[in-house]
Amino acid sequence: MVNQLNINWPEFLEKYWQKQPVVLKNAFPNFVDPITPDELAGLAMEPEVDSRLVSQTDGKWSASHGPFEHFDDLGETGWSLLAQAVNHWHMPSAELVRPFRVLPEWRLDDLMISYSVPGGGVGPHIDNYDVFIIQGMGRRRWRVGDAIPMRQFCPHPALLHVDPFEPIIDVEMSPGDILYIPPGFPHDGFTYEDTLNYSVGFRGPNGRDLISSFADYALENDLGGAHYSDPDLTVREHAGRVEAHELERLRSMMVEIVSQPEDFKQWFGRFASTPRHELDIAPAEPPYSEEEVQDALMGGEMLTRLSGLRVLNIDGNFFINSESWKTADAKAADALCRFTELGQSELGDALQNPAFIAELTALMNQGYWFFEE
Ligand code: SIN
Ligand code: CO
Repeated sequence: MVNQLNINWPEFLEKYWQKQPVVLKNAFPNFVDPITPDELAGLAMEPEVDSRLVSQTDGKWSASHGPFEHFDDLGETGWSLLAQAVNHWHMPSAELVRPFRVLPEWRLDDLMISYSVPGGGVGPHIDNYDVFIIQGMGRRRWRVGDAIPMRQFCPHPALLHVDPFEPIIDVEMSPGDILYIPPGFPHDGFTYEDTLNYSVGFRGPNGRDLISSFADYALENDLGGAHYSDPDLTVREHAGRVEAHELERLRSMMVEIVSQPEDFKQWFGRFASTPRHELDIAPAEPPYSEEEVQDALMGGEMLTRLSGLRVLNIDGNFFINSESWKTADAKAADALCRFTELGQSELGDALQNPAFIAELTALMNQGYWFFEE
């Protein structure tokens, strides 16, 4: 691995995670950029890749979404090109996310990469996710303000900015430095040089998304069909009022649906294993045979997981890419959740189990795992 991350994780989590922004100087010693600005521009021309170009001249902002056909009209100053989920599309860049697997995978969003020329940036803003901004090529000045209520406004329909803020961090970042920012802290990056930044983002779901996704699950699975009932009803003086005990009974009906532990796990596994950005899925061509898979693994070949694929174990229930997976070997399935690269020693006895080999072969043929060439 080219880039090694040095963070004292227990200390970082205790002092900073979700609490305070912090600069981690030289967290990637001797940092090597995994991508060039030209390669990033190439990705921003692909329809599958979510990209943006943000520019500013004399305080007038504009923004457009990719895919871009060319970059001919750009000057030498005042713009920034950003691509989301580069870890799904560019394997050397995906390596940058790997050392963050000390944090739960279901919290990971993606790796966003930005390339900015002098005067370029997205402007002062607030994010609703935790972000580790890694400084790559060039130096960039980052300012972070305190998480206090601030006015937000759109200087362009595709941009959400905040009013100017007093910095609590004002730093010039050099390659290999990391700026960690929890949700809600305003920040702004400014550069005098051509610069690359890599943002590893962790987004927590909000209650609205959880309720809406659970409601979809309830509909698909016919949950909560029982109707409100009130055999203890008494004569009302005021027919136009909903009484507190009735409200409470309604609330209990709803809470009861969410409280079924099995349904809750089945729903959350599907929800949390759903990728938030498109994956680069290609079914195996030609397909693997079961014998081939078994022989290769017994012979020491290593399996690689499709980058960005979410594979989760919730209390012995397994989920891959929005689907529940009933497996023939829970121990091996757990290893598939735990490691992104694995082989014989992690999969163990399951390699002798024809039912598990059949499942794994099917998953490989879907493009979820493959043998590194
Ligand atoms: C950038 O890389 O310019 C933006 C990163 C961020 O503000 O989260
Ligand atoms: Co930001």
